[in-house]
Amino acid sequence: MTFGMVILGRQGSGKGTQAVHIAEQYEVIHISTGDMLRAAVKEGTELGIQAKGLMDAGELVPDSVINGIVQERLQKEDVSRSGFLLDGYPRTVGQAIELRNLANDDLKLAINLEVSIEEVTERMISRGREDDTEEAIARRLELYEAETAPLLEWFTEEGILCRIDGLGSETEVYARIVEAIEDKIL
Ligand code: AP5
Repeated sequence: MTFGMVILGRQGSGKGTQAVHIAEQYEVIHISTGDMLRAAVKEGTELGIQAKGLMDAGELVPDSVINGIVQERLQKEDVSRSGFLLDGYPRTVGQAIELRNLANDDLKLAINLEVSIEEVTERMISRGREDDTEEAIARRLELYEAETAPLLEWFTEEGILCRIDGLGSETEVYARIVEAIEDKIL
């Protein structure tokens, strides 16, 4: 059975880490908007040039740009064949509405990895990615509260939100996610 799902949570909550395991076990296509943008920056494309400054400052790339990239990716044949797991998208209500239009009934589950601000800040500081400066982390977390946290209510109303404790080892968190997938989708 193919399905679509999204993984939500604060920056540094472990979305990317867990998405890799989910994609491997359930053979869904892992689509990370952050990874796509970082690849564009590395390749020096027009998108990359536009996105770099925003990412380094912890700002969001405009909805119109991100929605276009995701729409194009979701239309690819591998996604129709295997389903999708979106990581880092949607991040605003505008993106969530767009996703609802794009995915129709294929979107079955939205997982929210719940980790405190203190814990995610520590995780990001020890990871040390290029955009993990103190200022950018603070800005990303501020934008999360303002733009992304309201999505939890949105997905609750859609009836597909599942809140998961993101504290514990990677394996412990993954076991909770598997339980949710088996319970709500399969
Ligand atoms: P993106 O790449 O999505 O970055 P982010 O939102 O900051 O999320 P992270 O990748 O930092 O966190 P994560 O939850 O994936 O955690 P991870 O698994 O790495 O986006 C980057 C930028 O692109 C944005 O700031 C924005 O500018 C732009 N962008 C992207 N999507 C966009 C969109 N839709 N709209 C607009 N702009 C967009 O884990 C973090 C660390 O914790 C790792 O070191 C990991 O090893 C560790 N860890 C993981 N699990 C555990 C655990 N259980 N216990 C202890 N440590 C753990």
